[in-house]
Amino acid sequence: MNAIDLLLNRQSDSKLQAPGPTKEQLSIIQQAALKVPDHGALKPWKFIIVEGEKRHKLGEIYYQSAIKNLNPENPVDAKAIERSKEMPLRAPMIIIAIAKYTEHAKVPRIEQVQSAGCAVMAMQQAAYAQGLAGVWRTGSYASCEHVKAALDLNELDEIVGYLYLGSATNDFVKPHRHDINEFFSELK
Ligand SMILES: Cc1cc2nc3c(=O)[nH]c(=O)nc-3n(C[C@H](O)[C@H](O)[C@H](O)COP(=O)(O)O)c2cc1C
Repeated sequence: MNAIDLLLNRQSDSKLQAPGPTKEQLSIIQQAALKVPDHGALKPWKFIIVEGEKRHKLGEIYYQSAIKNLNPENPVDAKAIERSKEMPLRAPMIIIAIAKYTEHAKVPRIEQVQSAGCAVMAMQQAAYAQGLAGVWRTGSYASCEHVKAALDLNELDEIVGYLYLGSATNDFVKPHRHDINEFFSELK
């Protein structure tokens, strides 16, 4: 795929099915993650790959988080608790992207988090360019201390996203939605 076609046509897909990335496709996705801008060469990244049966383990982590943080007496919460175990089953593979913050005189936390965010985007693009599909998700399980601890992360680490990857269920192409003039202007 031509790079401009990729940049102008990339889209997210939340309805994903098998197959997920092959070993070769995953390797390209991983290499793309490590090519992102990185102020100070701090490499503020960590990625956890979850696929196959391991998705149930992640579902259990979500479930434990849900029962800690939600009220089962509340119908909305009860539904969320019930759904939590199934959430990782929405794609054949999930890559959890984490910003590993290191204190640095010239590179504030936001820049390290941005770099990890770029990695999520790069991985989604690398997947899309190889004919795969994906969606970047966060939600409450990205900021939950229980989830972080269960993933062996420390309190300064930031889960910047869960990248769900798989194959698209249709070839629907979303139209462009934004007018460039709404967002770009000349310096006055
Ligand atoms: C940091 C971040 C977190 C997001 N979290 C979610 C999420 O939890 N659930 C969701 O449906 N979409 C989430 N999105 C939005 C989707 O990834 C996607 O961008 C959106 O559906 C628009 O689709 P598009 O990428 O094709 O334009 C998130 C996007 C970003 C940048």
